[in-house]
Amino acid sequence: MTMHTTDIPADTLAGAGAADLWRGARRRLHLQEVGPRDGLQMEAAFVPTADKIALVDALSEAGLAKIEATAFVSPQAIPALRDAEIVLREIRRAPGVVYTCLVPNRRGAERAIEARADELNLVMSASETHNLANLRMTRAQSFAALSGVIDMAREAAVPVNVSLSCVFGCPMEGDVAPAVVLDWARRFVDAGARGITLCDTTGMAYPTQVAALAREFRARLPGTELTLHFHNTRGMGLANVLASIDAGADRFDASLGGLGGCPYAPGASGNVCTEEIVHALELMDYDTGCDLSLLLRAAQRLPGLIGHEIPSQIVKAGRRLDLHAPPPDFAAWRDRAHAREAGTPTET
Ligand code: COA
Ligand code: ZN
Repeated sequence: MTMHTTDIPADTLAGAGAADLWRGARRRLHLQEVGPRDGLQMEAAFVPTADKIALVDALSEAGLAKIEATAFVSPQAIPALRDAEIVLREIRRAPGVVYTCLVPNRRGAERAIEARADELNLVMSASETHNLANLRMTRAQSFAALSGVIDMAREAAVPVNVSLSCVFGCPMEGDVAPAVVLDWARRFVDAGARGITLCDTTGMAYPTQVAALAREFRARLPGTELTLHFHNTRGMGLANVLASIDAGADRFDASLGGLGGCPYAPGASGNVCTEEIVHALELMDYDTGCDLSLLLRAAQRLPGLIGHEIPSQIVKAGRRLDLHAPPPDFAAWRDRAHAREAGTPTET
């Protein structure tokens, strides 16, 4: 991987009380791709199954730690992902990569286990209103159903992660109390979940809030795999990733090209963009395990698949040291400027 690290001494960056956020020191962070699920579920166009498979294969090659390959949801609710079985069967499974799938209910879990998912990613909202809008159930009903799904997964020896939506705010209810979020997280861990993802479904999270909740989560549930899932709806995505690293988190969901959003959450827009996050974190000397060139190549193919531009800034602007040729008249301007410096009068 060719990334350019700057030589700024960490000591000059560490402010009063700063932890080692500014010293990446090749610390390993785990990037988890959600584009094939969170990204494609929002698209009006049906991406052909073969293209979905090629996308997941490209992501596997690019070094993502985990890939949410699809969702086993109702095909009426999310027609874009109605080919979940075929996608999971046909992808090339790279050793070490975890292929996870979103599962909303028992029917989804049966399908995902049958299709040999490496992990089930169950979903429930921390907000009662959003849970009813997205899953047509109260949180208590969801929890009861999902506890049964966790038992089922245990019998099939398939690990479970639970994604809690709207933990940093609900677009219909407003703030959700951290105590409520942590209580649901605890209940799912007690029921047998290996990991919890704190999801900022509609980009309402801000860095100080993120650092506080992630810190509290780690203090209360130290043995649980913690993932942070941010949407860049209000431009705070990267800041929130950094705030969670500062709080000790090391797993992040991100979406190639910055696609994404929940169709049942008003105002939802793209996830933090995988290639932007990798670009920034590698510059800060973190080890993301990802090959940025391969990510960029895959991201550049996305507009052709979905039929519109993608949010990715890095696809538009290139990497910070992807240099441009000077303008055509550059040599003449330079000679004239040098001549002026030497005191030689020049015609203008
Ligand atoms: N896979 C396939 N089909 C499913 C299914 C699943 N996981 N869950 C439900 N269905 C089917 C049922 O078989 C039934 O089909 P039928 O009408 O042909 O008999 C139909 O969907 C309705 O089932 P029901 O149990 O009444 O569910 P519902 O209509 O209340 O839907 C959800 C609830 C949550 C399953 C559904 O709305 C859903 O899958 N939503 C997707 C949520 C999502 O992915 N949001 C974005 C990500 S956070
Ligand atoms: Zn999301």
